[in-house]
Amino acid sequence: MTQREHWGSKVGFIFATAGSAIGLGSLWRFPYITGQNGGGAFVLLYILFTALIAIPVFVAELVMGRKSQKSAVLAFSNLSNQSEKWRLVGWFNILTSFLILSYYSVISGWSVNYTLMSLSQFTEGKSPEDIRNVFEILYRSGDINVFWLFIFVLLTVGVVFGGVRKGIEYWSKILTPALLIILICLFIYSTTLPGFGEAVKFILYPDFSKLTSKGILEALGMSFFTLSVGLGIVLTYGSYLKSDDNLPATGLIIGSVSVLVSLVASLMIFPVIFTFGLEPEMGTGLVFQTLPVLFDQLPGTLVLSTVFFVLFVFTTLTSAISMMEVLVANMMEIFFWNRKKSVLIAALGVFIMGIPTALAGSGSLFGNWKEMYGTDFFGTLSSLTGDWMMPVGGLLTAIFVGWVMGKQLISEQFLMGTKMKKILPLWLFLLRYIAPIGVFIVILQTGNIINISALTQWAKGLISW
Ligand code: PHE
Repeated sequence: MTQREHWGSKVGFIFATAGSAIGLGSLWRFPYITGQNGGGAFVLLYILFTALIAIPVFVAELVMGRKSQKSAVLAFSNLSNQSEKWRLVGWFNILTSFLILSYYSVISGWSVNYTLMSLSQFTEGKSPEDIRNVFEILYRSGDINVFWLFIFVLLTVGVVFGGVRKGIEYWSKILTPALLIILICLFIYSTTLPGFGEAVKFILYPDFSKLTSKGILEALGMSFFTLSVGLGIVLTYGSYLKSDDNLPATGLIIGSVSVLVSLVASLMIFPVIFTFGLEPEMGTGLVFQTLPVLFDQLPGTLVLSTVFFVLFVFTTLTSAISMMEVLVANMMEIFFWNRKKSVLIAALGVFIMGIPTALAGSGSLFGNWKEMYGTDFFGTLSSLTGDWMMPVGGLLTAIFVGWVMGKQLISEQFLMGTKMKKILPLWLFLLRYIAPIGVFIVILQTGNIINISALTQWAKGLISW
């Protein structure tokens, strides 16, 4: 049995985890879902859910990982005296990771495609409307999507082959800071656009009348999605930690960074929308439709646009790597396969599972899906995993760590390596009560089992008062 790998440095771990957190969630999903949900009130809820539920569960996953030194399936099983039921929760984590990675790779493929299109200066001489339409064409082109899906899966394989230190940690340390720098530069430019004021109002002014019960579930799902919580990733990364790492500080840092990146990304994208008369609720293509319009206005379009999309690919890569690592780490532990074999099998599975998503826009597979389920296959998969499976996974993790592992044991793990002793009771409270009850209520509301619109009314009254 080979020894378990560990992170080479604390900074490396932080960047790898931040790399997993920062990705399509903040840059692609957050802006368009915010647009569809009317802005401010949704953003406020997302921040609340992140602080009160997602970060405590994030720390809980780190606790599980570091204590067990195993990935999801064996962690749940070993820490519960080999309970079969809890072991299944580990498998549920793997399934969620697998499904998300399949469509995540398709969207990431779009960004590889946009890199190439940037090099061929596809925006030249086009109106904002025409630039926007290029995305629609891409979405309908099944064969091109399958091709880029394949290329992206290959890229992921390349990094995960290298293992924890030489693959994941090495690349995250370079790519994550580079993306942050370019993001900040673009944000600064966006502040000079005439639509900036309107964008700030849209994102920061909470109008609760625009919030629907679906929006509430989406805000919860969003807070889990951007933090990569509820599918065993943080758990797996935590299992490569040593005893002197600071778990609560990691939770707070990564939580703040991902909220901040989501906000900055939105404040970069929405001014473009309001300046050029595009629609905030445009949907999945939002980033790909607005940013090229922005780049087209700037000097050095070719370089700027190419560099941005290269970094965009990298940031999705660091997230995809983390999902692939969950699959690989579990397979290595459960079936005793080596890393290479596990990576190849996982990658093949992800590629095959990604095909229906890649073909969703073309209608060449599951042509009647939309009529039956309301959205295309991609939409169904994205909402099933992001809005339901991740919150349920997070709920089960909160219950497991908060109630099954034992207060003494988790408190010891929490305190090991940190000076933030005072927040232990707060964490225990949030993890054992607020997180499970909160997620449960949101799920009941969305399933129409209870109705909290009265509560929204009340909040509205409170604010106008
Ligand atoms: N947190 C990542 C992002 O924001 C997405 C992700 C979700 C990554 C789940 C891993 C697991 O893009």
